[in-house]
Amino acid sequence: MASEKIYIFDTTLRDGEQVPGCKLNTKEKIQLALALEDLGVDIIEAGFPISSPGDFESVAKISEVVTKATVCGLTRAVQKDIEVAAEALKSAKRPRIHTGIGSSDIHIKHKFNTTREDIIERAAKATKFARNLVPDVEFFAEDAGRADLPFLAKLIETVIRAGATVVNIPDTTGYCLPHQYGEKIAYLKNNVANIDKAIISCHCHNDLGLSTANSIAGAIAGARQIECTINGIGERAGNTSLEEVVMIIKQHASSLNLYTDIQTQKLNPVSQLVSDTMRMPVQPNKAVVGSNAFAHSSGIHQDGFLKESTTYEIMTPEEVGAGGSKIVLTARSGRSALAHRFQKLGYEFNRNDIDVLYGQFLKVADKKKEVLDDDLHVLAKSYQPETVV
Ligand code: KIV
Ligand code: ZN
Repeated sequence: MASEKIYIFDTTLRDGEQVPGCKLNTKEKIQLALALEDLGVDIIEAGFPISSPGDFESVAKISEVVTKATVCGLTRAVQKDIEVAAEALKSAKRPRIHTGIGSSDIHIKHKFNTTREDIIERAAKATKFARNLVPDVEFFAEDAGRADLPFLAKLIETVIRAGATVVNIPDTTGYCLPHQYGEKIAYLKNNVANIDKAIISCHCHNDLGLSTANSIAGAIAGARQIECTINGIGERAGNTSLEEVVMIIKQHASSLNLYTDIQTQKLNPVSQLVSDTMRMPVQPNKAVVGSNAFAHSSGIHQDGFLKESTTYEIMTPEEVGAGGSKIVLTARSGRSALAHRFQKLGYEFNRNDIDVLYGQFLKVADKKKEVLDDDLHVLAKSYQPETVV
């Protein structure tokens, strides 16, 4: 069976930019959009054009410069929003309008104060209206993670009939467990008569730390688009991390039978660019792009890694553009890591020398969190090998 493509829909510039305090200006957004296109994302959600003149301008300017990726603008299921989005996207080679409405009873009652029937009517009307303006319309069923399944199926069937090319099933509140989210996608595949006419999209939030697992469960169940952000940034606990889903799909390509078009060696540079531009540091232990993702600090791991890197690394740092692996010398490090570092620094010590130096190294290491090369030069230069008489 041929491997199937997962479309990567990047929403760093829209959902990602909703992070408090991380507002980007148009110039920064254009720079990031070009970096995302170069990374190989299929769709760039550039903003929410009606939300502010600045966002409108960003979507319009990004539409002018992006040539390969689809450029998408978000709207509510409101005619004016959709008209403004179409206007902002008018220069895009591949424009997409992303419109939608709440689908859970909690949203229907408290946000819209209306009925399920009215939601279906508004959704169909907005989708049809958008489809008359652009050929590619994605519909989002907000809070689908907590929506009643038969109702969700009816809503999705209606919007596909109205012209939706992509149907987004957001777990807006990050509520679902992976098997539940996967079952939701499978249910829609089996119970929506016209589902083969649209691509199903996963849009998962990370409130319980499950956004990546949920997105992968969705893809296993048949979704073919994943919505994500660089470094997993976004509202509250964030969105699905682009770098995580991409590397999971790459690492498990043969069992998942899926692939993406992302150039993975560009993941770390783009992660750094987003982090610097948004002034949002990446946590050191972040999967794939954290500064410790390829750092080994305990003696047992260092010994194994130095013998054969695959003992403790399931992917190479080069594959994700991370520069290289690091051996961090701490009080937990062993003799083999110390000997290896002395050798790299140009010293030739035998086993006995290393035994003596290791004792001295541990004294320094107990005082400092990390023993640096300068500390090792001091140890090496003051070392007096014992002479045998
Ligand atoms: O989380 C969500 O439901 C969203 C929609 C607007 C797609 O971001
Ligand atoms: Zn979202």
